[in-house]
Amino acid sequence: MMATELAPGVHWVGAIDWNLREYHGYTLPGTTYNAYLVRGEKTALIDGAYAGFEGEVLGRIESVCDPGEIDCIVVNHIEKDHSGTLPAFVQRMPDIPIYCTERARAGLARHYDTAGWNIRVVKTGETLDLGGKTLTFLEAPMLHWPDSMFTYLAEDAILFPNDAFGQHVASAARFDDQLGKDAAMVHAQKFFANLIVPLAPKVLKKLDEVGGLGIDIKMIAPSHGIIWRSHAGDILNAYVDWSRGVAKDKVTIVYDTMHGSTTMMAKAIAEGVMAEGADVRVCLLRDGRYEGTHRSDVVTEILDSKAVLVGSPTLQDEVLPTVAGFLSYLRGLRPGRLTARKIGCAFGSHGGMGGAATQAEEALKAAGIEVIDGGFQVNYRPDGDELARAYELGRKVAQEIRAR
Ligand code: FEO
Repeated sequence: MMATELAPGVHWVGAIDWNLREYHGYTLPGTTYNAYLVRGEKTALIDGAYAGFEGEVLGRIESVCDPGEIDCIVVNHIEKDHSGTLPAFVQRMPDIPIYCTERARAGLARHYDTAGWNIRVVKTGETLDLGGKTLTFLEAPMLHWPDSMFTYLAEDAILFPNDAFGQHVASAARFDDQLGKDAAMVHAQKFFANLIVPLAPKVLKKLDEVGGLGIDIKMIAPSHGIIWRSHAGDILNAYVDWSRGVAKDKVTIVYDTMHGSTTMMAKAIAEGVMAEGADVRVCLLRDGRYEGTHRSDVVTEILDSKAVLVGSPTLQDEVLPTVAGFLSYLRGLRPGRLTARKIGCAFGSHGGMGGAATQAEEALKAAGIEVIDGGFQVNYRPDGDELARAYELGRKVAQEIRAR
């Protein structure tokens, strides 16, 4: 096991989870749990990994120093993918000081038996002098949990923001310039789309606060994925743009179908969008019959789209379960919290009273999307006139987003 040097006395000592493919409803090509060792006259371990990865983290630490030389642990975030190794580390290093926020202290006690743990609560602006390396703490509540905290290493201008700016990817690359900026941004966009969107206003506020501190940030070392050493400014700018809802003239159409009629409508709408010169993604939801597109990839497409169209046949007076699941996921992400509002509408086929399109539009409104058209429903199979109407709906949506 080898560590990776970020700067003299600063090493990545994390774990690579090559085989993880889903994480609370989000598909991913593996991930990493990044932990860091900062060595001045004293040594600090920042963050950890899931339980089960203790040996890998300790192995990497041993390539730098004896784990017995660690003087303290910084817990930026208590979610188990970062704190899971903590009980084993405390058992190995009894009475080691653990620096975290008050919310983290309370949260750790709900996860583990912390009786006897030497927890030291810190607040924004407090520092920890390691002798030649100085850590400054910055509370970041709800970025993305109440306990979250950023840690800044002044001498090397490295920010350790835990989940913020992270990406789920398992790779031999440790740095952005090794994986490639474009690939790193793709993974970061999916991470933001699936985890950070509902927190967008807090992201903008926190970035303002960090900017106001006047600190130099040369490197951003998150708790997942690659470390931003060549493109730290680019990921900071991307977070601002994504939080503001900066999007392309692009429409995402997401749907499922029972017998192909809603597919016909989706394709006709897409033709109308393309006829107006706008970009479009047509995403049949993954449901076991088709490879389709997983909901976590659909919301990634939605992040930089100005419009979202949802299609569902009516099944027993309800939205099809695949679409209902997607709408629940979208509602939770609340894209309406992005500064710029997205527009949307719904469509679908039915064989009885219909209703799915109306319900889907209510869900879009609940997600903060501005609905611009009444639910477009057809009985059974769309005829030529109805396909023409679908085409015109696509044109109207494209014209609308271009005008914004
Ligand atoms: Fe990567 Fe919120 O844990």
